[in-house]
Amino acid sequence: MPLRLPAFLAPSPLVLHPHSRHTVSSPHPHTSRAFFGFPWRARRRAAARSTALSVLRRAEARASAEPAPAAHAEAQEEEEVDPGAVEGTSLRILRYPHPLLRAPNAPVADEELPSLRSVAREMLLVMYASRGVGLAAPQVGINKRLMVFNAEGDQKAWLQEVVMVNPVIVARSKPSVVDVEGCLSFPLMAGQVRRHEWVKVEATRLNGKTFKVKFEGWKARIFQHEFDHLDGVLYIDRLEEEDGPKVQARLGELLDEYEAAPFEGKAPAL
Ligand code: CO
Repeated sequence: MPLRLPAFLAPSPLVLHPHSRHTVSSPHPHTSRAFFGFPWRARRRAAARSTALSVLRRAEARASAEPAPAAHAEAQEEEEVDPGAVEGTSLRILRYPHPLLRAPNAPVADEELPSLRSVAREMLLVMYASRGVGLAAPQVGINKRLMVFNAEGDQKAWLQEVVMVNPVIVARSKPSVVDVEGCLSFPLMAGQVRRHEWVKVEATRLNGKTFKVKFEGWKARIFQHEFDHLDGVLYIDRLEEEDGPKVQARLGELLDEYEAAPFEGKAPAL
């Protein structure tokens, strides 16, 4: 089904590029949902952008006194949110250009698995509260090879939750597909990325057992995005060439925001 690129990704009349595309085709119905927190309500978002920061700051101030917003189906079609503090966890999502997003991520040792159970649960809480569908440990300042995702992006669909420790890609499709991605560490931004159509993965569960799984389509895209985080690779590193210039302004804003108010950059104690 064809889907519109957000307005801010559409080519500007002043810099119209012959290969720019207004639409991308998606083979998967789930692309109508939030995409790693991808903002589908682009027009409203663009209008709100100027006030978004002050709103987010106020929301953060309120968050300690109010419960986190519940994730629900309708919310998945909204833009990603900064939930501020999320009830049940002290984890916060680090934004670009926080250095821990680029830091090496250590393999998880067996003896660490018990302590990672609560970490994984809290990562899912933060992910749902942010209306995302995937989160990697370095995004919450934990430089370990751990990722969580739920392709439904819905806490009620908890059976879809995937928690992977030390994942390894053992096979990948030659064919690849381009689609739009966003990332909770890059709020209010999106761009096209080429990914393998499927990947076969080996990983460890939190109970210490290893397993193999093949992800296709939507899940394969989410997995590859989160797996990249474990190697310090961010989706801006893989943007389709035509989208590079389109995200420069937003990247500049993120750099300015970080400079003005950097996160502390300490990994939470496990
Ligand atoms: Co991401």
